Amino acid sequence: MSEFIEISNEEGVTTLRFDRPEKKNAITADMYQDMADAIDTANADADVRCILFLGHSGAFTAGNDIADFARIAMSGGERSSMAVFEFLERIIMAKKPMVAGVDGLAIGVGTTMLMHCDHVIASHIASFRTPFVDLGLIPEAGSSLFAPRLMGHHRAFWLLAMGEKFSPEQAREAGLVSQIVASDDLETQAVKTARSIAAKPPQAMEISRKLIRGDRSDILARMREEAELFGKRLLSEEAKQAFMAFMNR
Ligand code: COA
Repeated sequence: MSEFIEISNEEGVTTLRFDRPEKKNAITADMYQDMADAIDTANADADVRCILFLGHSGAFTAGNDIADFARIAMSGGERSSMAVFEFLERIIMAKKPMVAGVDGLAIGVGTTMLMHCDHVIASHIASFRTPFVDLGLIPEAGSSLFAPRLMGHHRAFWLLAMGEKFSPEQAREAGLVSQIVASDDLETQAVKTARSIAAKPPQAMEISRKLIRGDRSDILARMREEAELFGKRLLSEEAKQAFMAFMNR
């Protein structure tokens, strides 16, 4: 168990909060595992009808902990079974509706995970960036398949390959964000939305959501393919140099 994911249950909503503000909520292997386990628990509990992801004002999450990446890169070995991929499988196939409230930086997986949420509320200070290529890495979370489907090839390339930042408005136009609110209202609005989803007739919600999400098995398959390649890229010279450059800033 990590101390950096705060888990709470109220009014039919399981809230998972990134709670490592001193590191901009960067996500370690233990944090991914905690979230994967919490999603399993939520899936098995009929009283849980919505999952809500939150961070803090200023940082939803700065993405994968780069010190973790550097440790893996230096130790070598097969890495396609990392906890991050356990977590990504859970959110691609999640049985319960998922809402995210983003009130600041959403980097790397902090952006790609939003593609699998059912409703994303961002504040005016939110920003979205996936510097995978700059880190010698490749897109994950099935985003190399899902992002072009969601926002078209050019915007997906801009975000995922060029690593350019999306403002909240650009993210909304791209279909990554459902709603933009003031930073002061973000958390209230996200909790209210998650609770309103949780309060709806659960069977009708489940069937409707399944129809809207469609069959995601191709995205899961792409996520696994990306995981293989990502594991190899972590060991590349390009990645090692990028991790060291970040660590030695
Ligand atoms: N992994 C590990 N530590 C991270 C981190 C990450 N992804 N993001 C931020 N941190 C740490 C910083 O090292 C710093 O730690 P320190 O105080 O012990 O030195 C602390 O969080 C605060 O970050 P800092 O860089 O000082 O804040 P900033 O406001 O100047 O910049 C970011 C914030 C997020 C823009 C910058 O930290 C960054 O680019 N992080 C890397 C993001 C990234 O590439 N993620 C991986 C995507 S695949």
